[in-house]
Amino acid sequence: MLKRIIKNILGKNNLELSRFSDNDRRYAISKGWEKFSCKDLQIAHAISYEGHINIREAKFLLSLVEQTNPEDTIIEVGTLFGYSTNILALGKAESQKLITVDNYMWNSLGISAETHRLSTFAMLQDARENHGVKVVFQDKDEFYKEYQGNAPGLFFCDAHHDYEPTLRDLTWARKIGAKIICGHDYNEEIFPGVVQAVNKLGGAKKIVDSLFVL
Ligand SMILES: C[S@@+](CC[C@H](N)C(=O)[O-])C[C@H]1O[C@@H](n2cnc3c(N)ncnc32)[C@H](O)[C@@H]1O
Repeated sequence: MLKRIIKNILGKNNLELSRFSDNDRRYAISKGWEKFSCKDLQIAHAISYEGHINIREAKFLLSLVEQTNPEDTIIEVGTLFGYSTNILALGKAESQKLITVDNYMWNSLGISAETHRLSTFAMLQDARENHGVKVVFQDKDEFYKEYQGNAPGLFFCDAHHDYEPTLRDLTWARKIGAKIICGHDYNEEIFPGVVQAVNKLGGAKKIVDSLFVL
């Protein structure tokens, strides 16, 4: 009760008390950042997040985008904070459409879904307003049901990494006739579901680090 009252009073003044969670502490120790304040640790974590595609993968993804016809839409499932979306946007023709889909059910920073969605929307402001990128807030399976467009030039799969959801993504992309189907996190140890789904559909044609082409 007292805690809630204090929290309310602080909240009304845009103040909050915070302390490291066990996870934060473990993370800080692993980085040698034990002396960071809570705020600095959160920001350092956001800036240095390691789960994005790496530079080799990004270069490979760019080379795939360059093989697409500018008339064909590019579809990404799994926007997260827009990192890979911006890479896709960099490689595409200016007139080419790029749709990125996320339901904001997960993020690496543990922020609320609302904060995740609004900050990603802001992160992609330039791409949205000036470079033909459509940021869709929707469950990907709903998006698949409603999609009325032509066969995509490239489908980039990077959403839920379990076997069933990944298989649904890749199967949909095949069914709709996506010309290039690729995805991230092809890693037997960390994401066995992605590897199983890719193998179920005939295996990867090419792999660069953890980026696969079906
Ligand atoms: C690994 S992250 C994407 C990383 C991003 N492509 C990048 O490289 O920066 C996975 C994202 O997929 C989203 N996601 C998971 N399940 C989803 C679903 N059913 N529909 C839409 N998005 C989903 C999560 O909210 C999360 O933002």
